Amino acid sequence: MCGIIGVTGRPDAAELLLEGLERLEYRGYDSAGLVLSVPGSLWRARAAEGTTSVGALRVLAAEAPGASTGLGHTRWATHGHPAVENAHPLFDCTQRVGVVHNGIIENHAEIQGRLVASGHTMASATDTEVLAHLVEERMAGGMGLAESVRVALGEVRGSFSIAVVSSDEPELLVAARRNTPLILGLADGAAFLASDIPALLGQTDRLFVLADDQLAELRPGSIAVSTLDGLPVEPPALSVHWDLAAAQKGGYEDFMSKEIREQPRAVADTLLDRCRPDGSLALDEAKLTDEDLRSITRIHIVACGSSYHAALLARYAIEHWAELAADVDVASEFRYREPVLDPKALALGVSQSGESLDTLLALREARARGARVLGVTNVVDSSIAREADGVLYTRAGPEICVAATKTLLAQIVALDLLALKLAQLRATRSPREISATLDALHRLPAAIEEVVSRAKEVDDVAKALGGARDFFFLGRNVGYPVALEGALKLKELSYLHAEGYPAGELKHGPIALLEPGAVVVGVATRNPLWEKFRSNIAEVKSRGATVVLVANDGDERAAQLADHVLWVPEAEHLLSPVLDIVPLQLFAYRLARLHGLDVDRPRNLAKTVTVE
Ligand code: M6R
Repeated sequence: MCGIIGVTGRPDAAELLLEGLERLEYRGYDSAGLVLSVPGSLWRARAAEGTTSVGALRVLAAEAPGASTGLGHTRWATHGHPAVENAHPLFDCTQRVGVVHNGIIENHAEIQGRLVASGHTMASATDTEVLAHLVEERMAGGMGLAESVRVALGEVRGSFSIAVVSSDEPELLVAARRNTPLILGLADGAAFLASDIPALLGQTDRLFVLADDQLAELRPGSIAVSTLDGLPVEPPALSVHWDLAAAQKGGYEDFMSKEIREQPRAVADTLLDRCRPDGSLALDEAKLTDEDLRSITRIHIVACGSSYHAALLARYAIEHWAELAADVDVASEFRYREPVLDPKALALGVSQSGESLDTLLALREARARGARVLGVTNVVDSSIAREADGVLYTRAGPEICVAATKTLLAQIVALDLLALKLAQLRATRSPREISATLDALHRLPAAIEEVVSRAKEVDDVAKALGGARDFFFLGRNVGYPVALEGALKLKELSYLHAEGYPAGELKHGPIALLEPGAVVVGVATRNPLWEKFRSNIAEVKSRGATVVLVANDGDERAAQLADHVLWVPEAEHLLSPVLDIVPLQLFAYRLARLHGLDVDRPRNLAKTVTVE
């Protein structure tokens, strides 16, 4: 959630931290802050101005003294409202220790009680501040910074990636993690830390992963890693194939426009080289053998948000092509419902970031209950990628906009490939059928390009509905997860009331909400329940709702039923969602822009959710 960056050994530390924070804003923007180590003291600036916090921090940092060591933070508030006094870095009583933190210190109230009783004064309402005071206590007792952090962490429960600086050891940064990500970077004469790869792109390509319960000491040109118990370890190198340009806007007004337009490439790259000349599918990063996959009796898919919608779509593909039972759970519910799994089950975690804590913990639960684990993620060497028995990478490149677009389409096709691979191994579909479906998959990038090129038509529909406040997204069969995704995109970007429903369920209650003024957006492309869906739309139309349909080119009946149509080319029904989602992304984008909202940084959200 929060973004962390640190550097030591760079005379331009302040500018480097600010640039890193600009690239980490998508992790949270309730506030931003930085601390610089200057001889004998710490210099700090903090701003809490919502989506413009980093910009406001940049203005304050114009007064910053020259320094080569420092830390920066963008906050997604958990404990303590978004305000300057709760912005990180947080200091101890002596103002000699500065801490930035991502995660939650679960026993902070108990620690705070003890600290306050022994004379400490808390300056914020955060869970994080206790860490600064715990380190202060140890340093007052004569311990060095690294040992103080190590001992302090022995007292805390919860999840953390933290970085600490002290004016007593001005060139040293100490970092540690448990359950939330932190990477390290090394260059001649400098060392870096960050919560995410884009922050360090262009600074160094010598990147390393800090694992759970490890602590790193960063000095100019050197990094020493040890476990929290003090045993030295070698951090594994992180493979990164992204370049700086991929993490910049490249002439677009915002990252969302750029990422929507990158979707054909994201899908094409995810499909690239997966098909061997003999027609068999090579999911090489999935280290599970063909024999392992053949022996699977049930798949349990866990995911959150848009990735959950990709998971729902995967269930249709796995059940249809591979004739294999598949369950889908919201990750945050899965681990607490005592799921029954057996050793022939496969737990599949779908996560763009590979760091969503709910998904990571659900996969750990599945493994503890005997299942093998496969991750589908966009981030190489992310926590889910490293912990899974196998990983299937989407190749969408970095996604900066908080709302998922290109990574979702890449997930859907990656999961289609997995379903087809299972169908091959289980011989549930003939080689001819599989080959025809693969050809259809390879035609998708051109079709997505075509849908994106129709953005102006979507804009016109959005403009016509600019005053609407209530939106109901309906679909059946694979149209249902598409409807859920359309509703999620609209609510997170435009803050309008939007709900996604399976259209057949409407008559069991939600139809009571329909009245003139409400907008129903229906996913009316061809699928096995197409005819029934049309009847559902006729029902809503008769209640006076305005109807927008996503429909296949040339569908006259859709044109008669709807007030507005968002046209898409026809595709095989299981593949159609990859096209149907695109006009809904564009629709949400345009409505948000019409309402004057920042599409890249919607309020209250963070790109990667690393708290439970
Ligand atoms: O990184 P993940 O795919 O695990 O993230 C899951 C959700 O947090 C994410 O899809 C979220 O719902 C997005 N804001 C959707 O646009």
